[in-house]
Formats: sequence, structure tokens, C-alpha cells
Amino acid sequence: MVTRFWVAARHPRPTIDRLSQAVGYVGFGGYVPPTELTNSDLEGIVDTNDEWILRRTGIKTRHILAEGETILDMAACAAKGALEDAGIDPAQVDDIRVGVNTWMRFPSLATQLQERIGAPRAAAADVSAGCAGFVYAVEQAYHRILIEKARYGRDTIALVVGVDGLSHITDWTDRQTCVLLGDGAGAVVLRHVPKGGILATHTHADGRYGDVLWSDSVLAGQANGSPKTFTHEAKGPRAYLHMDGKKVFAVAVETMVSDVLRVIEKHREATGERIGIEDIDYLYPHQANLRILEMVGKRLGVPLEKVYTEGVVRYGNTSTASIPLGYWDNRKTKGEGRLEVDVAFGAGFASGAILRRT
Ligand code: COA
Repeated sequence: MVTRFWVAARHPRPTIDRLSQAVGYVGFGGYVPPTELTNSDLEGIVDTNDEWILRRTGIKTRHILAEGETILDMAACAAKGALEDAGIDPAQVDDIRVGVNTWMRFPSLATQLQERIGAPRAAAADVSAGCAGFVYAVEQAYHRILIEKARYGRDTIALVVGVDGLSHITDWTDRQTCVLLGDGAGAVVLRHVPKGGILATHTHADGRYGDVLWSDSVLAGQANGSPKTFTHEAKGPRAYLHMDGKKVFAVAVETMVSDVLRVIEKHREATGERIGIEDIDYLYPHQANLRILEMVGKRLGVPLEKVYTEGVVRYGNTSTASIPLGYWDNRKTKGEGRLEVDVAFGAGFASGAILRRT
């Protein structure tokens, strides 16, 4: 009997209180490679011009990995920045999640990042969810922090990184795609916070759109079921990104609008608190194209001054990095108690949104 009480005290049952403890961001980091590629630089590579790119995408410049720089280098710079900002030693990190689509090999980028930054006690895994990888990774880390606390009574510190080297899979002869893409990394540290933090998350996927935004693979034969994959000559094509721009545009707008509404609704279902669109102080949408962001803002009724758009202008579409790069860009102007929503979509289509209070 005594033993039973002891066991129960050491392993308390999950309670709503423990599950509703606040979890939020406590540090931000970001990195873009020094090499800039402007619209006029692109005029020398493909048949395009600054006026077309600006009018159709809003992009002025993007940053590109140079020879010798790697995706791991970018991830490490952003991760170290976020840990320093949070005042957390890498040795304290329990969980590393990396949203990435362009690593394309194993071991995972997350394990290599764990080694590079010196976080020996952390679990580490990559998350592949197109440009929504960061949102998926934050949701996974958030849920783990809640469960670790509820089930084991442990405080967990997570490092979440969004990073991509899209220039590695860019077809520099395809003017429709090469003008859009850039390289970069962003990172956050998540842990329990006294108040605010993440209020709700929502992720979703629709595999029917798998053929409107996709990349080749050096193992393409395997995906097609070709036995040639297993022979020496089966190197396959380079892993270029392909896209049906118009279809992506339409699905992106629909998806981002419905994901924002859904995450707000999920919060209401969980807490009864009604949040209106007018209560949202700031929106961090995935930075794919300025016209998409303008349309999402308009459809939701969020004025453009409340929408982060600077990233797409300065960095182009940096895939999973674009939302945490936005936090990093805005880190000096952040106030407390602001209601913010992150929303991303990408290849798959995988998409998701996070509702947070700063
Ligand atoms: N420079 C100059 N002209 C270009 C061009 C470029 N870089 N790319 C395409 N064009 C031309 C086309 O060839 C076409 O010429 P035509 O009328 O003589 O045939 C014309 O511009 C219009 O092309 P279109 O593809 O219809 O343009 P669009 O208005 O759909 O814009 C995108 C193209 C890619 C900018 C737009 O579709 C888009 O942003 N889609 C979403 C992309 C995205 O966000 N992807 C990432 C998701 S994570």
C-alpha cells in the first residue's frame, strides 16, 4: 500500500492543468548566406527582367549558398543564434527538430546539427513537409514538451530549425522557378513560459496536389518502381524543383486562408475563447510570393501592415526558413501580449498554422 502511494506520487497522472501549461518561444536566430543574387543578376542568367519579377512576385533579391557553404552551416548559425538569444547552453537542449526538404541524404540533418552545436542529450530528427516543415516541426516539439511534462513531470527544451538550400535544386534555365527561390535558415527555442505562448496548432495535408510542386530525385527510378535504380548507371536526373505556378498559387491562397480560420476555431473549441480576425496583431505567412500574401490578407480581412512581407522582398522564397527568418527580422520590435498567427503551405500539399500570444 505504501509502495503504491509512493509510485503514484512519483508518476502523477496527466491532468488538464499540466497539459495547459504555457509553452512559447524564448529565443530567435536566423541566417542567410552573404552572396546576394539580385533581379538584374538574374537577367544575365535567364530571359527575365526586374520589372516582371517585381510585378509578379515582389522579390528584389535573394541569398544563395556559395561553393563550400552547406545547409548544415546555415542551420548551425541560426541554431546558435537562437540558443544565445534564449540564454540556453546547447547541452541543455532535449529535442532538435529540423524542417528541411533539400538535405536529401542520411544521417538526418538534425543529428548532424546536434553534433555541430554540441547538444549531446538531445533527440534529433528531420521533418519533411515542404515549406510547411517549420510549422509541423514546431507542432511536434510543442506536443512533446506538453507530453513530457504531463506524463513524466519533466521540463523539456526544444530547438526547432527551418532551413533549406533551394539553390541546390534550382533549374537555372527555368525562368518560372529560378527567380523565386533563395537559401536561408531560421530557428527558435521552445520551452515552458509563465504566460502566453502557443495557443493552438493545426496541420493538414492533401496529397492530391503532389504533382503541382515536386522535385526529381537521384533515386527517381525507385519512386517510379524502376529496377534500374539498383544498377550503377542509374544516377537519375539532378533533383530539380518543378512547379505549376498557377495551380500552386490558387491552392496556396485557399489553404492558407482556411488554415488560419481553422487554428482560431481549434482554440475556441479547446478553451471557449472567441478570437476574431480583428484581434490578430500580426500574421507570419510563408513567404512564397508577395501577391499570394496580399491575397491571403485581403481574403482574411487582415490589413497588409499586419502581415509580414519583408522576407519575400529581401530573401525570396526560402521554404521552411521563411517564417522563423521573419521572427528574426522582427525580433527588435516584438511586444508582449500580441496575438500572432503563423501559416505555411508547401509541396504535398502540406500546410499548417500556429496561433500564439507573444
Ligand atoms: N520573367 C519574364 N517572363 C516570365 C518569367 C520570368 N521569370 N516567368 C514566366 N514568364 C512569362 C511566361 O512565359 C508567360 O509568357 P507568355 O504569356 O508569353 O506565355 C508570362 O510570363 C506569364 O506567365 P505565367 O506563368 O502565366 O505567370 P504568372 O502570373 O502565373 O506568374 C508565378 C508566375 C510563378 C510568379 C506565379 O504563378 C506564382 O507565384 N505561383 C506560385 C509560386 C509559388 O509560390 N511557389 C512556391 C510554393 S511554396
